[in-house]
Amino acid sequence: MPVGTGRMRKIIQQLEQKRARAKLGGGEERIAAQHAKGKLTARERIEVLFDEGSFEEWDIFVEHRCTDFGMREKSVPGDGVVTGYGEINGRLAFIYSQDFTVFGGSLSEAHAEKICKVMDQAVKVGAPLIGISDSGGARIQEGIASLGGYAEVFQRNVLASGVVPQISLVMGPCAGGAVYSPAITDFVFMVEDSSYMFVTGPDVARTVTHEEVSAEELGGASAHTSKSGVADLAFANDVDALLAARRLFDFLPSDNRARAPRRGGGDPASRCEKSLDTLVPENPSQPYDIKEVIEKISDDRDFFELQPNYAKNLVIGFARMRGRSVGIVANQPLTLAGCLDINASVKGARFVRFCDAFNIPLVTLVDVPGFMPGSAQEHGGIIRHGAKLLYAYAEATVPKVTVITRKAYGGAYDVMASKHLRGDVNFAWPSAEIAVMGPKGAVEIIFREEAKDAAALEARTADYREKFANPFVAGRRGYIDDVILPRDTRERVCRSLKMLRGKRLENPWRKHGNIPL
Ligand code: HXC
Repeated sequence: MPVGTGRMRKIIQQLEQKRARAKLGGGEERIAAQHAKGKLTARERIEVLFDEGSFEEWDIFVEHRCTDFGMREKSVPGDGVVTGYGEINGRLAFIYSQDFTVFGGSLSEAHAEKICKVMDQAVKVGAPLIGISDSGGARIQEGIASLGGYAEVFQRNVLASGVVPQISLVMGPCAGGAVYSPAITDFVFMVEDSSYMFVTGPDVARTVTHEEVSAEELGGASAHTSKSGVADLAFANDVDALLAARRLFDFLPSDNRARAPRRGGGDPASRCEKSLDTLVPENPSQPYDIKEVIEKISDDRDFFELQPNYAKNLVIGFARMRGRSVGIVANQPLTLAGCLDINASVKGARFVRFCDAFNIPLVTLVDVPGFMPGSAQEHGGIIRHGAKLLYAYAEATVPKVTVITRKAYGGAYDVMASKHLRGDVNFAWPSAEIAVMGPKGAVEIIFREEAKDAAALEARTADYREKFANPFVAGRRGYIDDVILPRDTRERVCRSLKMLRGKRLENPWRKHGNIPL
């Protein structure tokens, strides 16, 4: 036996023991407690998220440096967060996954350093970052060192914004200042009944405002996907959320210099959808479901909707056309007649900016009677918030294809990727009504003196409708490029996107704009 072999065997054995110890995190009991709550462990989550065998772990031996409050004796290798990189459908992604079984997944200085290391590397090599939150917040024994650690993470979230896609999966507690990391990232998924996010919890709410509210009501998945708009999607369990993250990932490019991967592409661009010809009801105030249009024009009818339960009057999400990702923004006549309000404007603006930052063309479907009227909206700042959507569309340099299916009235017409905001290709269906306002409102203003004569007013309305509530006035000016048959929408949009593949457009140099936040 060569000299040293025995020693080497012992070292390898020790290494394996150390690794096995680290992989056990907080130990069997705490793992069982995690499972009893319906949650997977940090490592199990990574296994579901990444392609089999692709995960490469870093810093498994990192330990905290705290010596106060008996912490010298309590140390777990890995220090409550699993970090590294792996692949999703063959494409690189970086990950950190907080381990609740180790000090409640709380963030220490060393824990933060591990997160920062993968964030820095993700930006350096241009690959998305996925963060899984399951943490009791700042490691209380470490105090201010932990606060510093959080701020280091926030700083990196901000610098990575618009450089690599960032996805947050909140799968347990995420409270206090810790919420600001997911808040800065591009997409937030939550799990029903086991995750929550709030800046101040129910106890503080009770003390300060005397409000009785549970953690779930205050900051659970349902609250954030329907009331606050902080999270995009809620899932019944960890596995569903992780599998959805894999699907979302496939729509995204690796970084801001790349294009999203091509997937599928078997669905012919020329696929005709005759049923769309009769989708828009004859009565202009009768609604229809815009998602039917989205699905029928998308490859394989596959639409990945974001924020489906928040500001339902505007639908956003990813689809593919000719195998390539597109961002879809569409007014939804089924909710508030498709009016733009504060929440819809903010929802749309952020999505448009994401697509623009990451080279994803925008396909906009327009059926909008205008901005939502009333003091609640005005006093809530619809002027500022509506301007966000306008600003986002106006600054976007990615290919922009717009289809007006029915109403495109007033300022909302301008905002929704109109020709004037550098829309590349603007189509209208024959049912389109492009005007300053709806016929009834218009006639009541222009012919105010005839207000008491209902018959006269009706005749004026019919006349106005005949003159203006159609696509041809805009067509004559070139504000729309063509009036297309609904059945041909997929083909015409696909052809436009193909033409726009080589689009190059740059905005004037500036440090950054000043979007009305
Ligand atoms: C150290 C923590 C911890 C923390 C939990 N633990 N949170 N250790 N620092 N912040 C430990 C617990 O002591 C416990 O250890 C184990 O994790 C599991 O916690 P449990 O309480 O048994 O779990 P559970 O009942 O599920 O409750 C989870 C919890 C609760 C709601 C998160 O632990 C909790 O309220 N923790 C404190 C939250 C908090 O106040 N954090 C600091 C906020 S300030 P043992 O050994 O008993 O298993 C903050 C500021 C950030 O985060 C600012 C950034 C800018």
